[in-house]
Amino acid sequence: MSEINKPKVFFTSNVFSEKEIGSNKQISKNIREIIKKLWVELTQISEIKIFNGRFPSEDQIRIEIEEFNPEILGCHLSHQISAQLLEKSQIFAVSTSTVGYNHIQRTQRDNILFTNTPGILHETVADYTIALIMASLRNLIDLHNHVWKGQWSSNNKWDLDGSLSSVFNNKILGIVGLGEIGKEIVKRLYNWGIKILYYDLSQKEEFEKRFPLIEFKTDLKEIFRESDIISLHIPLNSFTEKLISRDLLKLMKENALLVNTARGGIIDFDILLEMLENKAIKINFALDVFPNEPIDTKTLRRLKKIKKNQPEIRMILVPHNASADANTRGKMNIIFLKNIINLIKSTNIEDLTDINLIPDHKKQLKNKEWRIFNYWDKK
Ligand code: GLV
Repeated sequence: MSEINKPKVFFTSNVFSEKEIGSNKQISKNIREIIKKLWVELTQISEIKIFNGRFPSEDQIRIEIEEFNPEILGCHLSHQISAQLLEKSQIFAVSTSTVGYNHIQRTQRDNILFTNTPGILHETVADYTIALIMASLRNLIDLHNHVWKGQWSSNNKWDLDGSLSSVFNNKILGIVGLGEIGKEIVKRLYNWGIKILYYDLSQKEEFEKRFPLIEFKTDLKEIFRESDIISLHIPLNSFTEKLISRDLLKLMKENALLVNTARGGIIDFDILLEMLENKAIKINFALDVFPNEPIDTKTLRRLKKIKKNQPEIRMILVPHNASADANTRGKMNIIFLKNIINLIKSTNIEDLTDINLIPDHKKQLKNKEWRIFNYWDKK
């Protein structure tokens, strides 16, 4: 490839670099070495600019793109990439180091390829989801706070039998979305003496052969009506936005648990808060994701008030962290860099089939005039 044809790649965070994630000692050596090698390769075949920091604002991203004029954009979860910004640029592909890609807006012509990093984080997120469920069932957060505040003392002995909680046994778990993560949860919990229901767009018959006791529900209402624990594992898109509505929430059993490690926008969050405030429902919840991240002060104030008025409600709030296992993040960075390298090396549609394009783009590959064609023409 001649110098002149080296495409420009802009990374919206320095976390992706060999100096950061590639040198993070919490990540296994072999993974770090692969990351370093990929950076060497990327440096040879492209012109790179990396944002000096982790969390550029939309404005900072816009200015960088206007100045550098990249053809490929590498971004992260908290980097909002607007359709307008993409349309005005010469970017032909956006790669994200995440599975979800709702932070990148599709353009009207939708001719810019998006890649993501599927197939890595499902085990890690399943473990984390189960940790949240267990922590909620046994009320670990409130108990920790009790000790932390010095409330466990010789004058105030712990009343073991006065503060009972209950384990998984005989509970019904409803999984919304039996994709990669939902399946990992089933694999882990199948033998734990719980009944597992699931809702998905289609019945997973092959998977059911391995786990015959799980039960497919075609109506989401049944999941909400019957489950003691509901865990959400669906992407956020125009069909799933605010899917968990008042009508579903009001079906939840008293003291049931709602867990969300998917995307905050799936739940009609304002309605959830309102129903809790008005005591229209009484449920526990464990949330890793929120409609606006970070969670805004007004929402946090409302949550604190709910907890103050109804201390028995068990809340766990964590900052979108489910995939943050060191090697998982390292492996996702590898896939992310490989996606970019393979895009740069590609010369035709066939070359794109092994790249992790988002499902919609993969399906439409042959039917569109992608911007990447101009890049191939110049090669
Ligand atoms: C994390 O939320 C991801 O989508 O990778």
